[in-house]
Amino acid sequence: MVAAVLVALAAAVPAAASPRVVGGERASIVEYPWVVYLTDSTGFQFCGGTVVAATKVLTAAHCLANQRADNLRVVVGREDKRTTDGRVVNAQSVWVSPNYRGDPTGGSDFAVITLSRRVNVPALPLASDNTLYQPNAMATVLGWGMTKESGEASEYLMQAAVPLDSDTACTAAYQQYRASAMVCAGYQQGGVDTCQGDSGGPLEINGVLVGITSFGDGCARPGKYGVYTRVASYVTAIEGELDR
Ligand code: ARG
Repeated sequence: MVAAVLVALAAAVPAAASPRVVGGERASIVEYPWVVYLTDSTGFQFCGGTVVAATKVLTAAHCLANQRADNLRVVVGREDKRTTDGRVVNAQSVWVSPNYRGDPTGGSDFAVITLSRRVNVPALPLASDNTLYQPNAMATVLGWGMTKESGEASEYLMQAAVPLDSDTACTAAYQQYRASAMVCAGYQQGGVDTCQGDSGGPLEINGVLVGITSFGDGCARPGKYGVYTRVASYVTAIEGELDR
């Protein structure tokens, strides 16, 4: 039930109400050149993503559930949405994890966009084993989503630092949590989190992509973490798509 509501919210973020990183600060696209945002053909930003190869962007499956490749645009190198900095690249094709069940709480919330041309930014490497998934490890989350739960999307790229938490704590917060598919991050007291519009974007530790923003109950609520796709669990499947 709760999951269905969360999905409905994520899918139906209207132009006037899309959230970004909560409790964060402005981030520089120069420092994080591989973070991108996704828009529809009208230019409306609805998700984030990460450049993982010259023509490949990794995002969340739930971001692309209702999106055709020909309407999808990837904005690279633009920190401030109101500018024309960087470039807008068309999607040539979209590959959604075949195990994604239509709901981020079911796991496998990842997808790969093939760009119509190469982009000139460094790719972020993928986590390839579980060593980076230590409780209390500090991670950086990034996005143009809402800056408070009932806010509007950010004009600017935002960043926040959040600690990973243990599978026990994540399970206590979300009964749907699965350690093989997800990692959670945030503070028990809330206050710092990703939010609507940040989905698909990176959770990064020391220059490695560890998570993909996936779901949460509201944003930055006490006792509720942000839940991220566990990249290391899916690295073989993802890398299989990068060579195509
Ligand atoms: N599902 C949201 C989106 O599509 C992201 C939610 C992240 N929520 C959270 N509390 N960390 O943008």
